[in-house]
Amino acid sequence: MKKFYLTTAIDYANGSPHLGHAYEKVLSDVIVRHRRLLGVDVHFLTGLDEHGQKVQQGARAEGMEPQERCDLIAEEFIVLLEKLRISNDDYLRTTQDRHKRVVRTLLQQLYDRGEIYQAEYCGYYSSRAEQFLQEKDKVDGKWPEIFGEVVEVTESNYFFKLGQYQEWLIDFLSENDDFIQPEFRRNQVLEFLKEPINDLCISRPRERLEWGIPLPFDESYVTYVWFDALVNYVSAAGFGDEGFDSLWPADVHVIGKDILVPPHSVYWPIMLKACGLPLPKSILVHGWWMISGAKMSKSTGESVDPLELVDLRGADAFRYFVMREMTVGQDADFTLERFDSRYHADLGNDLGNLLSRILNMTARYCDGKVPEATIAEKPESDLADLWDEAHVGARELFDEYKFNLGLEKIFVFIRGINRYAEERSPWKLAKSEAIEDRAKLETSLAFIVEALRLAVALLAPVMPGVNDQVNKLLGIAATTLWEEDLVWDHRLAGNALGPKTILFPRD
Ligand code: MSP
Repeated sequence: MKKFYLTTAIDYANGSPHLGHAYEKVLSDVIVRHRRLLGVDVHFLTGLDEHGQKVQQGARAEGMEPQERCDLIAEEFIVLLEKLRISNDDYLRTTQDRHKRVVRTLLQQLYDRGEIYQAEYCGYYSSRAEQFLQEKDKVDGKWPEIFGEVVEVTESNYFFKLGQYQEWLIDFLSENDDFIQPEFRRNQVLEFLKEPINDLCISRPRERLEWGIPLPFDESYVTYVWFDALVNYVSAAGFGDEGFDSLWPADVHVIGKDILVPPHSVYWPIMLKACGLPLPKSILVHGWWMISGAKMSKSTGESVDPLELVDLRGADAFRYFVMREMTVGQDADFTLERFDSRYHADLGNDLGNLLSRILNMTARYCDGKVPEATIAEKPESDLADLWDEAHVGARELFDEYKFNLGLEKIFVFIRGINRYAEERSPWKLAKSEAIEDRAKLETSLAFIVEALRLAVALLAPVMPGVNDQVNKLLGIAATTLWEEDLVWDHRLAGNALGPKTILFPRD
């Protein structure tokens, strides 16, 4: 049986994880958790991109072996995944044998088929930076100081025949309008393909770059960047092994906008085509997190440490914030004020207070047990209608990757539960001796508990921790299947509820 196979970009092992890396993992995790709740069998891959010049130089600068440094960075990324409750099924590191073997197998196949050839490469080289430069590296028409002396050199390298597939790719993209999502990103690719594309240089001489996978047909070279990194998606799926077909083709590659054109939209489809492998079903391209309108970057020191936020506010608050604030595909600006305001208003007031109120009232008025709902008047039917609207709407929006709007709908419902509580005011009903007021009191508590259970079930892909915690307090297991769990049926009647709990503490 083919599984739903989702991948993220593999992060460069040349620095600590930042908000952008964390976001991509959360977005991917929300998608796969959503699928699992729909009953889909999922395989979720993420990993680390360990080879290359910067990693080699970074290790040297710190007096370490590249592998040693990669191991330390891998640990940091893995801690982040755990803290964010990312439910990946696999973690691929490009230094693993299972990956190196597949890269070499595919290179050899392409070489044997004449898809790879050797030629001279001519370019500007900075020996201080140990890299080839491009015209765009110039500032005001000159090479910046940091590059030291820049000389024109000619170097022999291996090239992959990309150019011959250009027409095929244009046709493919034109016929498959949901291959790249959101759709406007596809136009950027088609725009790029209006100019002729060059063949792709896939090697570096080993004397200049040691930290890479040696080419199988010429061990004096290593594979350069994309031919190594992109292959992770098939090597992790077990290319060449039985079971490969149960994963490949991938259903979604989740990536940031900077690596769509040309790597994922041009190199990767062409590499697969040349290898005779099916193409992934889709590429989901997200935007960037910015700080005051600029991209986070190590060099300017403008960066947000996701671990700090998670330690301060918890994984679910972080997950909620990034999913609520970003429209998938667009950029978003990060500010601490915005984070705090979402934390206090949506999570603390709307959701957290609702939970503590209902636990409190049930303990006071009903011995801590969920009462029966015995009446159904307008406030009850209004709340049920609001639920219908919220959950149908939110599910549709989640299907379309419009998580921010889906979350908004869920919070409209949560605020509706709070309004219902105000309207029924169980604390006032509790003061009355009348039998019908007792029925209203019990009904209102039953309705609030049921609505809260459903809201939390709907939030499960985004806030798995809150889902666990609240369900435990309600005396049931975590949400596993929406088809069963999103039914309004007052299943909690008679359940003993847990003690008063603060979900999102104030400072
Ligand atoms: N190693 C390559 C990807 C190879 S995939 C076969 C790479 N690594 S990266 O560490 O630079 O970026 C990893 C992912 O994080 C990319 O999808 C990138 O777009 C994303 N982000 C990096 N900075 C980002 C933001 N500021 N905001 C959101 N995501 C961004 O590229």
